[in-house]
Amino acid sequence: MKLLVTAGPTREHLDPVRFLSNRSTGRMGFAVAAAAVERGHAVTLVAGPVELSAPAGVKRVDVVSAREMLEAVEQYLLEHDALVMTAAVADWRPKTCSEVKIKKSVMNDVIELEPNPDILQTLRPLKGKRIFVGFAAETGDTEAEARRKLEEKGVDLIVANDVAMPDAGFAVETNRVTLFSKEGEPVTLPLQSKLDVGRALIAWIEERA
Ligand code: CTP
Repeated sequence: MKLLVTAGPTREHLDPVRFLSNRSTGRMGFAVAAAAVERGHAVTLVAGPVELSAPAGVKRVDVVSAREMLEAVEQYLLEHDALVMTAAVADWRPKTCSEVKIKKSVMNDVIELEPNPDILQTLRPLKGKRIFVGFAAETGDTEAEARRKLEEKGVDLIVANDVAMPDAGFAVETNRVTLFSKEGEPVTLPLQSKLDVGRALIAWIEERA
């Protein structure tokens, strides 16, 4: 199989030195890529700004903003059998980005934002028989939110995790996820390394490809 995986945060610049972003480190996506390579699949990894090295054998495409990530995913999607969106894509970007550093003397006390495109929703028309997997980072009603995202994003699987837990989510080596699909009851996997979560997801995709 050929898998397209996204990882990490995106950065939405206000000027060359300031940006909006989030706590994602890319570990989950890099673990999915490693698990896929281990099983002999070809992987393209579209990575936001992260401090990780790609597993050997992976084709890495570096991007910064959500719009760049959309462009890269759109460019590579058709040659892949599955898309796994682990990236924590910034939902908003500053309306304007200055080419030079904004001086504090002229800095406004309000930053105007505009919404970024939703990558999964935008590429839904190109899905065809491809398997689409989305992640859901939640701090509240995980089940309701995961089910809403399963519908709205038109994906086959939502991998939900509670990012408020100290041993799951952002910037840790382990994760505890629940898989939501249209096939029936959600399946909660035990707390395990992100590599093992990646292996479980690759097995899920292989069974359905
Ligand atoms: N995602 C995407 N494009 C975006 C935002 C998110 O494709 N602009 C993808 C993420 O990569 C993830 C899934 O959608 O696979 C869910 O992301 P999440 O941040 O949990 O959800 P949001 O769509 O941002 O919704 P909300 O802010 O309501 O939680």
